[in-house]
Amino acid sequence: MAKLTILEYPDPRLRTRAVPVVAVDDRIRRLIDDMFETMYEAPGVGLAATQVNVHERVLVVDVSPEQDQPIAFVNPEIIERDGKTEAEEGCLSVPGIFDKLATRSAHVRVRALDRDGKPFEIDADGLLAVCIQHEMDHLEGRLFVDYLSDLKRTRIRSRLEKERRERGTRAASRERSKVPAI
Ligand code: NI
Repeated sequence: MAKLTILEYPDPRLRTRAVPVVAVDDRIRRLIDDMFETMYEAPGVGLAATQVNVHERVLVVDVSPEQDQPIAFVNPEIIERDGKTEAEEGCLSVPGIFDKLATRSAHVRVRALDRDGKPFEIDADGLLAVCIQHEMDHLEGRLFVDYLSDLKRTRIRSRLEKERRERGTRAASRERSKVPAI
């Protein structure tokens, strides 16, 4: 396994729309394993392939307290959604920034392929539902900061650019927060 580099906002590659995976083969399984390693080490609770500059529809998430319940999604689709939830979100590609979004569904039902290419469906609520919606946005080239006001987004962008200048190429202070970065 290998730790991958996570792209950071405003890197234009984060705006790429991911294409469907054609076959869940060893290359995709290795990508999934590397994405889990990268996510756990960050640390985060979700990661989309887009964030590691692979523009295929693959997500990994683990919202369990012990971080021992990994779920990989290949070609995920939301087939049902219900309700609204307001949750604070962060993102490994927007380090140190957290904000409240009111745009997420409280419940989603997702259909995807697993690490072996087998179809499965999962019902998700709470953090898992928010996390899946956040990661699926990444596959569309969308970031959670896109839901914030222009003013907030401009401030976030200049703050991250300033931090990067001050710290060299490795970004940001990785502020500790109770909210996990996804
Ligand atoms: Ni994210």
